[in-house]
Amino acid sequence: MVWPRSRGFAAIAMVALELQPFSALAQSTSAIQVDGTSFALNGDNVSYRFHVDNETGDLITDHFGGLVTEDPISVEIDFVQGWVTKIGRVRREFPDLGRGDFRTPAFQIRQAQGYTVSQFQYQSHDVLEGKPGLPGLPSTFGDSEDASTLVVHLYDNYSSVAADLSYSIFPKYDSIVRSVNITNKGNGTITLEKLASLSVDLPDEDLDLLELKGDWSREGHRVRRKVDVGTQGFQSTAGYSSHLHNPFLALVSSTATESQGNAWGFSLVYTGSFAVDVEKGSQGLTRATIGLNPLQFSWKLRPGQTFTSPECVSVFSEAGVGGMSRQFHRLYRKHLMKSKFAEETRPSLLNSWEGLTYGINESSVTRLAQESADLGAKLFVMDDGWFGNKHPRTSDTAGLGDWQVNKDLFPNGLEALVDDVRDMGLQFGLWFEPEMVNPVSELYEKHPDWAIHAGSYPRTETRNQLVLNLGLPEVQEFVIDSVSNILNSAPITYVKWDNNRGIHETPDPNLDHRYMLGVYRVFEELTSRFPDVLWEGCASGGGRFDPGILQWFPQVWTSDDTDAVERIAIQFGTSLVYPPSAMGAHVSHVPNGVTQRSTSVSFRAHVAMMGGSFGLELDPQDLDEDERAQIPDLLALAEKINPIIVRGDFWRLALPEDTDYPAGQFISEDGSQVVLFAFQTRATINNAWPWFRLQGLDPQARYSVGDTGRTLSGKTLMNAGIQLQFEGDYDSQVIILEKQ
Ligand code: GLA
Repeated sequence: MVWPRSRGFAAIAMVALELQPFSALAQSTSAIQVDGTSFALNGDNVSYRFHVDNETGDLITDHFGGLVTEDPISVEIDFVQGWVTKIGRVRREFPDLGRGDFRTPAFQIRQAQGYTVSQFQYQSHDVLEGKPGLPGLPSTFGDSEDASTLVVHLYDNYSSVAADLSYSIFPKYDSIVRSVNITNKGNGTITLEKLASLSVDLPDEDLDLLELKGDWSREGHRVRRKVDVGTQGFQSTAGYSSHLHNPFLALVSSTATESQGNAWGFSLVYTGSFAVDVEKGSQGLTRATIGLNPLQFSWKLRPGQTFTSPECVSVFSEAGVGGMSRQFHRLYRKHLMKSKFAEETRPSLLNSWEGLTYGINESSVTRLAQESADLGAKLFVMDDGWFGNKHPRTSDTAGLGDWQVNKDLFPNGLEALVDDVRDMGLQFGLWFEPEMVNPVSELYEKHPDWAIHAGSYPRTETRNQLVLNLGLPEVQEFVIDSVSNILNSAPITYVKWDNNRGIHETPDPNLDHRYMLGVYRVFEELTSRFPDVLWEGCASGGGRFDPGILQWFPQVWTSDDTDAVERIAIQFGTSLVYPPSAMGAHVSHVPNGVTQRSTSVSFRAHVAMMGGSFGLELDPQDLDEDERAQIPDLLALAEKINPIIVRGDFWRLALPEDTDYPAGQFISEDGSQVVLFAFQTRATINNAWPWFRLQGLDPQARYSVGDTGRTLSGKTLMNAGIQLQFEGDYDSQVIILEKQ
């Protein structure tokens, strides 16, 4: 049906406009070009382009994808037919709801008068060198060599609200980082009901959505589904990024694979609740938004106040999902993690948890540490169970909040214990869970109000504990002091910072964000006070494996599931966005405590070696002779390849969900060393042995291949590959190749 003009709707007239290339650049850095009110951010292989609509002042997206250095030919919408007006048909940078764009908005502001209509229009822009930080929030960083920033200032004349959209480009990493500032310049108080960090409209294409789903002990499982008409999304309402979903999504061409095709990745630098919406609209465009979860956000801004959103890192790759992942890995290692250990080799460790659980005391710990040293570990970590006096932490029912060493368990004190362990040639690490309190604790007896609660509603306990309200400055101070006192009392060089439940019963929807700002303040303070400590994040395993945490903690305990077969999927999934260097991965006992599966010690170790922080999490006295005999060599191998794991590039050659022969490959930063990890998770008979085709090698160079005595060209290794033979379920091979 054609809508007649007389009904008030204009007929569609599409005019093809040939626009000029950028010229007479008003302001530019090499990566940002501005021509009047057209903007282009160019990386080595990426362009992000948008312009101001002269009529409406709205920001219209022109392109986000592979490198484009001139204006593409596009169609100007002059007339429309139907209910969806022009604003609902175009690609918008900062879409509102309420003026004819019926798609998911990037924000919603309730004005003092109650309206939720907004009309932001372009006012001005600034181009800055480098990448500025965000007040109180984690953020990527870089100087003028690494990044350039464009800030576009928008203003709503009707409400006197300003919005500053900040775009930073890291050209080498094909990454664009966006955040938003909202400032109330009016006289009444406004309320931010929603503020996504990023909203992006992609053209009409056949796209798939990738995300990481999971649960406790099943984190980081990759899910791929078709982007279909309507809204599909996922969120965390847990107060933390959570095991259930990760603050990351990728949109990929439906034909994209690990190594080919277009992939756009979006990663929110935040540790709290978040929401992702992907909407394929009526006209075929796909809009993705990611940011704070509006269900847990309703932020009042008084006149003169500004709110800053967390930032979202967007990466584009034409080299498939793997290409996207490697850009995230490099960017996060070099421009997100502030720790001096970010690209440092990590000490192989033994953690007491799975071996001793709450059987911690001076003699058990000293024995365990001595056994760790005998096996070749470099760091001993005393996990849960060492603190609390009035209410000793001898189980998970008591003691959290009382951060003093238990005098009965450790009659000579912590310092003497640490000294003994150091005399064995080991570093000493310690477990904390500072954001929590057991109701059975001296802290709770003194400060019941510090636990998050909503009036007289029951305070629901999880693992017998409550969450401290880190939004309160006095709680932040308490945590900073408690942890500092212990770290000052003995030469502790590693902290495992745990967090074992979600947030419930909040007194107001903004508590979640205030809590995160408080946690970030605590992290900033403690890591600046103790820069020589290697900090590891943990939240019942990978419940907070997110970029916000990585700003301060260069590694995270990936999962409480230490079953090596499960771990391949968890680690490969997590590597969609996070670098293997950031993954803690340990060898534990069999049968595995979570899955009851038994695998060989070498298989368990080979899987764990793909994580940057390799270790043992068992009591060596429970190992059989054969297992024990293998461990020193396995530790030595882990130590040898750790620099490549921590600083190199990772390639997922074959995915565990697709094959019984999953495989991964690392290439050192200088390209001179390659490590192939190949696994057989299920033995079969009368099937040809698999070939593993390597990737990313120098085709002309020659590489020695493990202990085969053979040297092959990169071309042969990539085109033909290496055929391997395995024996039985859960067999594995690690092959080191050296460039000649
Ligand atoms: C959590 C962690 C474990 C261990 C225990 C201790 O579950 O993920 O690694 O530290 O707490 O209580």
